[in-house]
Amino acid sequence: MKTPHTHSSGAVHLRRAAKSTRSDDDALSKGARTVDSLEDLRTAVNTCRRCDLWRNATQGVPGEGHTPAKMLFVGEAPGDSEDLQGHPFVGPAGAVLDRAFQAADIDRDEVVVTNAVKHFKFEPRGKRRLHVKPSIAEMKACHWWFEEELRLVSPKLIVALGSSGARAVLGKAVTISSLRAKPLPLPEGPHLWVTVHPSSLLRIPEEASRREEFLHFVDDLKKAKAWLARHH
Ligand code: URA
Repeated sequence: MKTPHTHSSGAVHLRRAAKSTRSDDDALSKGARTVDSLEDLRTAVNTCRRCDLWRNATQGVPGEGHTPAKMLFVGEAPGDSEDLQGHPFVGPAGAVLDRAFQAADIDRDEVVVTNAVKHFKFEPRGKRRLHVKPSIAEMKACHWWFEEELRLVSPKLIVALGSSGARAVLGKAVTISSLRAKPLPLPEGPHLWVTVHPSSLLRIPEEASRREEFLHFVDDLKKAKAWLARHH
C-alpha cells in the first residue's frame, strides 16, 4: 500500500464564493470557513456539524492529492480503515483502486481522490463496524465540502467511482451502465466520467468474473486518461 497522500502543493488560493445565503453565525456553527487548501479542508471538515455522521466517526476524511489536478476521483464515503487513518481509499477498496491506477498508468500523486461524504457511516456488529450507505440527506449535507474541493482542485475530468460519486456530481440518481466510460460535459466546465466503485469488484465471488471486471475498470480508467490527454 502506498503511503497516504497528505500533501497539497499550495498553488491554490481559491476562496469560497461570497454568495452564501446563510448568516455567518449559522455558517460557522455548521463548520463553514474560508478554505485555501486541501490541508485546510481537513481542519474544516473536522468541525462539520452539517449532519450527524461526525458523532460516531473517528474523524472526517477529506480529499487528498496534488492541487490543482486535472483528474479528481470521487467515491462514496470513507470505510473503516479510512475512518481510522483519516485518508481516503486506504482500505481494501483503496488497494483495488491503487492496482487499477498502476495498470492504467495513473499516478496517484498527480490526481485527487475524495468521497461524496466525508464521515464513515456504520452499524456495529460485534467487534466489527459494517459500512452503511449514506442517506440522500447526508449526501446533500456533505455536498458543500465537495464543492469546496472542486474549487480548490479545478479538475478537467471528474471520475465518479460508482453511483454515489455520480450522484454527488449530478445531484440525481443515475445508472452506471447508461453513463459508463464516456465524457459527459458539466455546466460548470469539467467533464464527468462514470465508472464502477472498486468495492463492487471485491463483492464478485467468482475469480474469473472478478478479474474480467477489474480489467474492464482499468480499461475505463485508461480511456479516461487518453480522453484527457486528447482534450487538455
Ligand atoms: N469506499 C469509498 O467510497 N471511499 C473510500 O475512501 C473507501 C471505500
